[in-house]
Amino acid sequence: MRRVTQDTLGDASVLRVAEVAVPVPGPTEILVEMRAAGVNPVDWKVRTGGGILGTPPFSVGWELSGVVAATGAGVTRFAVGDEVFGMPRFPAQAAAYAEYVTGPARHFALKPPNLSHEQAGGLALAGLTAWQVLAETAGVLPGQRVLIPAAAGGVGHLAVQIAKARGAYVIGTASAPKHDFVRSLGADEVHDHGAEGQADVYAAVKDVDVAVATVAGQVPRLAATLAPQGALIALNGADEAAAVDAGGVFLLAEPDRAGLESLAALVLEGRLTVHVDRVFPLDRVAEAHRLGERGHTTGKLVLVP
Ligand SMILES: NC(=O)c1ccc[n+]([C@@H]2O[C@H](COP(=O)([O-])OP(=O)(O)OC[C@H]3O[C@@H](n4cnc5c(N)ncnc54)[C@H](OP(=O)(O)O)[C@@H]3O)[C@@H](O)[C@H]2O)c1
Repeated sequence: MRRVTQDTLGDASVLRVAEVAVPVPGPTEILVEMRAAGVNPVDWKVRTGGGILGTPPFSVGWELSGVVAATGAGVTRFAVGDEVFGMPRFPAQAAAYAEYVTGPARHFALKPPNLSHEQAGGLALAGLTAWQVLAETAGVLPGQRVLIPAAAGGVGHLAVQIAKARGAYVIGTASAPKHDFVRSLGADEVHDHGAEGQADVYAAVKDVDVAVATVAGQVPRLAATLAPQGALIALNGADEAAAVDAGGVFLLAEPDRAGLESLAALVLEGRLTVHVDRVFPLDRVAEAHRLGERGHTTGKLVLVP
């Protein structure tokens, strides 16, 4: 089978497609024939810096949708042929940019039939991040004011929908051409982050109950929008959370069956969907990374085998 791998750290040109043996699922694991794999910022951060995977050779990619091709000993939740999506093994190597991927059965859930594989391939990591921030960590309640910068991005566009599904008043930021998109997801207010530098995009934003620090380096300005009991969830490192006097936490998304099933339930209810920006074949993975690294993806970038 084909799998994207790298032998050195570096720019997108270090990514190459290698021929390797199809992996064998261990006990409690499933083998998934990949239909689509999501591309996330962590993928190019690890490609460049090693980070959670250390020193190459290694393979990035943690988010996928596909069909169960085999089950390991003791798996009761899935059978061969089931359509599943998941975020296996994170933050250990999953190597999801591949034709076949193994992972613990409980790092997957059944794909909702009203999402294509391409959409579901971009759901698990970004969606679990948004779910774990809004539902499990902040416990967003109806009427609360939730601030989501980069609201058109992978995490942001799912977070807007999840916050709305919980009855929140959602304030997003995006560049002007994306405001209609962010409003179509349910946002109540959208501010133009393109105005940054001339005027603070958050100047008119006050009394925020939950701020999600999706964009690195903005924590002090997000903290200034908080209501007295407001909470800030940082996604770009513990240092950022520590910079908030009260209520700053760093969250690193975790694979989790219950969260995946909650996302799938929202999709089935028609309250959550995935916007796919571009689809690339596996052998054009470098192009997908270069596009993602520009930082202007709307929804998700996805690889297909
Ligand atoms: N801790 C965790 O577990 C975790 C999990 C997932 C993601 N993350 C982090 O969360 C961040 C967002 O991830 P993502 O997948 O949503 O990324 P993404 O899809 O690449 O984000 C792209 C979006 O960012 C917007 N953007 C770019 N610069 C901006 C700025 N200065 N202000 C506001 N918006 C801006 C862009 O909007 P325009 O095109 O309109 O400019 C674009 O829609 C990344 O840093 C990622 O590493 C952390």
